[in-house]
Amino acid sequence: MKHPKDYLIFPLDVPTIQEAGRYVALLKDHVGIFKVGLELFIKTGPDIVVEIRKTAADARIFLDLKLHDIPETVFRAMQGVASLGVTYATVHCGESKKMLEAAVRGAGGKVHLLGVTVLTSVAKEDIRSAGYDASLADDVGLLVQKKAGMAMQAGFAGVICSGHEAGEIKNTCGESFLAVTPGIRPAWDVPNDDDQARVMTPARAIRNGSDHLVIGRPIRDAKDPAMAARQVLGEIEETLQQH
Ligand code: C5P
Repeated sequence: MKHPKDYLIFPLDVPTIQEAGRYVALLKDHVGIFKVGLELFIKTGPDIVVEIRKTAADARIFLDLKLHDIPETVFRAMQGVASLGVTYATVHCGESKKMLEAAVRGAGGKVHLLGVTVLTSVAKEDIRSAGYDASLADDVGLLVQKKAGMAMQAGFAGVICSGHEAGEIKNTCGESFLAVTPGIRPAWDVPNDDDQARVMTPARAIRNGSDHLVIGRPIRDAKDPAMAARQVLGEIEETLQQH
């Protein structure tokens, strides 16, 4: 059985390698996957991968660069990503399957690719004002499904989506197609400055079929981040037992 900590992805959304290293040391017993995003990677480059390995040798690394460019550029960038020895990497599903296929070629089977469907910070009004058809704006889930289908056909391992869409993605793309869900807010977390729109609790996301939960600020900004991570693991464990 999957261990509760394998569900938890902690984004190292901090500006320096030192601060990232501190969070890795603090959370390595509770977090199965550390995510490196643009903020940190722009500052550290591949050194952050070495730093994480040094402190948490067993943890998996998720390089969340959310690539989106012409196929040749994505292909070449993904070759570079594949050479770093990370487990997961992201590409925006975008508009063209060719770009996604180029990413798969670049990954050469060394990295599990996750497609970014519709960011969890995006709401209906955003989709409408971006010029999408009203039927897609009124049903964000449908847009997410279309993008997930494209990623699956291109050979991706899964997608990033909200917990609301995970169940349907599993139904249409198959049980082994990964649904990785950010926008997770434990019931005890009351944010006062939050840009996530399509949120849900860890328990509900898992019940809906989510394979991994990205939980950042509720842990990073807690008075005691290790304790907050333990609380999340407790909720995950309880949910798994009821499942
Ligand atoms: O839990 P919190 O909102 O702090 O998590 C933010 C992290 O989740 C960031 O690293 C962000 O890049 C990531 N993320 C997201 N929505 C997506 C994909 C990734 O918030 N759709």
